[in-house]
Amino acid sequence: MDKEKAKERIRLLREEILKLNYKYFVLDKSNVSESVRDALKRELIELETLYPQFITPDSPTQRVGSVLSGKFAKIRHKTRKWSLADVFSLEELKDWEERVEKAVGQAKYVTELKLDGLNITIWYEKGLLKKAITRGNGVEGEDVTHAIRTIKSVPLKLFQEVTIEVSGEVFMPKKSFASLNKEMAAQGKPPFANPRNSAAGTVRQLDPRVAAERDLQMYFYSLDEGPFDPKTHQEKLETLQNLGLPVNPQYQVHASAENSVAYLEKWQKKRDTLPYEIDGVVFKVNDISQQKTLGFTAKSPRWAVAYKFPAQQTSTILKDITIQIGRTGAATPVAELKPVSVAGSVISRATLHNEDEIRRKDVRIGDTVIIQKAGDVIPEVVEVIQSLRTKDSKPYNFPHSCPLCGEKLIRPEGEAAHRCENLSCPGRKRESFIHFISKGATNIDSLGEKVVDQLIEFGFVKDLADFYTITKENLLELPLFKEKRAQNILDSIEKSRTVAMSRFLYALGIRHVGEQGAKLIVEHLQTLTNESPTPKTLVNLLKKLSVEDLTNIEGVGGIIAKSIYDWIREPKHQDLLEKFDHLGLKLTWPPKKTTTSQASGKTFVISGTHSAPRDQLKTLIESAGGHVSGSVSAKTDFLLAGEDAGSKLEKAKALGIKIINETDLNSLLK
Ligand code: IVH
Repeated sequence: MDKEKAKERIRLLREEILKLNYKYFVLDKSNVSESVRDALKRELIELETLYPQFITPDSPTQRVGSVLSGKFAKIRHKTRKWSLADVFSLEELKDWEERVEKAVGQAKYVTELKLDGLNITIWYEKGLLKKAITRGNGVEGEDVTHAIRTIKSVPLKLFQEVTIEVSGEVFMPKKSFASLNKEMAAQGKPPFANPRNSAAGTVRQLDPRVAAERDLQMYFYSLDEGPFDPKTHQEKLETLQNLGLPVNPQYQVHASAENSVAYLEKWQKKRDTLPYEIDGVVFKVNDISQQKTLGFTAKSPRWAVAYKFPAQQTSTILKDITIQIGRTGAATPVAELKPVSVAGSVISRATLHNEDEIRRKDVRIGDTVIIQKAGDVIPEVVEVIQSLRTKDSKPYNFPHSCPLCGEKLIRPEGEAAHRCENLSCPGRKRESFIHFISKGATNIDSLGEKVVDQLIEFGFVKDLADFYTITKENLLELPLFKEKRAQNILDSIEKSRTVAMSRFLYALGIRHVGEQGAKLIVEHLQTLTNESPTPKTLVNLLKKLSVEDLTNIEGVGGIIAKSIYDWIREPKHQDLLEKFDHLGLKLTWPPKKTTTSQASGKTFVISGTHSAPRDQLKTLIESAGGHVSGSVSAKTDFLLAGEDAGSKLEKAKALGIKIINETDLNSLLK
């Protein structure tokens, strides 16, 4: 390729990858598979290596820069960065609203989720990301541009060439936080106490490669400076979105203060269902001229307030420490607690992570401890309240042998966790059975942990395949079992007899093979064969792959590859898969990726209020190939009706047009 052609190809690749990244990371929606995007990126890297003169700072290859040599530079903010006043009860919230309405009369409010991360301000110059700064003391912050550039949802280039200052929250999703802590534990490093700390710790790394490897995300909620003249906070959020900046779609506009309380109650109940941590709800007066009238106190705006959810930490007595053996043999110390309620759920056990953590926190049996529950992360012991320690408290010695099978517990050199290496340890077996039936695996949902324990006790399940040999007679032998319950279980086992190969591979519980890894591997296996997918096919295909072949699968690392390679070479694992085959287990290949959704070619009209702004819904529909029209006519295929849908809804009903809600829309867009 000659120089001019390369220049043009680099430009086209850059634009296409930026477009795909936006769809994937900001809109959370993409028709093109990740491997296609990665292939384009590889081509771009190759060309940019040959022609470095054509690399631009907004190229998707330029997210990770060089290691900082020393401390972070201090930078003065262009506009003052405020914090929010907190309220802790509905009464205090009401007082605030009364103060607002006394000053400006009736007001509309926007509610947003209060993300538990760290506030970052970004300067874009002529559309390009120039600087990212921590909030600091509100006047001066630290230059963390190198780390923020690595966050894939943060555009390096906006949709318009504007010079603006914007702020938002950088956070780490709960799942990524949990896996990061696992990794920290494996490396013998102390875990982060919560996702907030891990996000802050990651942003403050001098080496941008660390941030690039960890899953940070960002949602924007402030437009601090720029050539726009929004009249409302809602318009600000829409402007941010139109520039390509990710905005949390869960915000809502309310006609009055009273309406907004339902939002608060909803999220207080549903916070555990979110993939990220929130610690409250932010209320903002919508009208900017009303905001101006209200002004600021020394620290915070009078036009906004943070309602903080009740704390998720509490104290209780640690009655005992037991050891739990995981399916891979890891021996985790567990604090047995005097039951206590944290954020709506009763907790009687919390993890102590490993021996070093017990020592570092100096945890003793009988201590009063602070425990913490962070969303769906396992509750953990944060610290001991030393001043409440009594003379009876007993130091804990980590056992030398597995409490379940008696085999010696090993702590491999350089690792924090002890493990039981006995493959037939009953503790390991039990956990592997529970994993096998779990939601992301075979999803045999009517079988709970208790029934699994009974099935083991009665000798009906000795290996994973035995789940498919259970008979009604077996189940009726178990205590408290009647016909109906037995039938339910048999039905759900039957249902799982046809299962996606990736779920099955994950269900086998091979060390290091998670849901995502299993998916990537199975997608690759599918390209290697025309055979129908059975457990036997799985054995045959896996046996053919070398560690190198496996590592070459995009997204599969050396550790996963080696683990699978070793696993499939164990004769007893091959026997197990043969047994599944004989028992008639059917597997399925992943569906072929298509680029057409049911929304493609259809005309939508949006009316009423939704959880996301119209522009965003429109973009979603259009990126799935649909059209959005402003008015209802005989040509309309779907009316997306939200709250207060009004006259359009009436008209659509009269014309017999299909009326859908956001859930319906989401399934049409798939
Ligand atoms: S607005 C002028 N909106 O909460 C007000 N802050 O306690 C600037 N936060 O420093 C902040 N989610 O780090 C705002 N939707 C949201 C937020 C939010 C989280 C954080 C932010 C701020 C802190 C104040």
